Amino acid sequence: MNNQDRLGKLIIFEGVEGCGKTTQVNLTRQWLQSLGVEVVVTREPGGTELGMELRRILLESPQGTIVDRAELLLYAADRAQHVDSYLKPLLNQGKIILCDRFIDSTIAYQGFGRKLDLDLILQLNAIATQGLERDLVFWLDIDPAIGLLRKIGNHDQFDRIEQEKLDFHYRIRQGYQHQAANYPQIIHRLDGNQSPELIQTQIQALMKTLIRIY
Ligand code: TMP
Repeated sequence: MNNQDRLGKLIIFEGVEGCGKTTQVNLTRQWLQSLGVEVVVTREPGGTELGMELRRILLESPQGTIVDRAELLLYAADRAQHVDSYLKPLLNQGKIILCDRFIDSTIAYQGFGRKLDLDLILQLNAIATQGLERDLVFWLDIDPAIGLLRKIGNHDQFDRIEQEKLDFHYRIRQGYQHQAANYPQIIHRLDGNQSPELIQTQIQALMKTLIRIY
């Protein structure tokens, strides 16, 4: 489905662990609701019932139990289910969707993090999305070491992916840099070191100009 053929908008929040994207999804939802805009919040992995099972397997399995290609396929399966059973129908109804992670996470994590072939990932993303394109991506960029420290500060338990070595997390940041350079019209970098309020002001300004929300 081409972006021109549908009423709704698909807005994605991306970044390394602890970058603050979930806070921004919530603040953006509150802002849109205060304007009377109908908004839906979802995430990958885990935006559907099947996706919640896949999320549990992906994040709660012990380290070393899932090979990299299987991990890639599980994220693709989560996305295929999410796109067909949730995202496309809602976009056709004209909903604004705020989605925590989408295809850029797979390039960053499985492509740059796991070093899997980028062409293979592009093919799998295409199979999973069936042409569904994102309208706008907010990439909250922070040093991965700071993001992980924030998680420790919040006493969050590290999941299978967060437990990876620091170099893995730095490669993911490079993956986002690569994506932002390739899709400058869609992916907007925001400095994740700023206060949540300031970041939210920037998101609102971009949404007003780029997708005409008032
Ligand atoms: P989060 O949404 O709570 O940040 O957790 C999702 C985790 O899954 C996070 O470590 C990023 C990872 N992930 C991938 O590795 N590839 C993907 O395609 C997606 C969507 C997420």
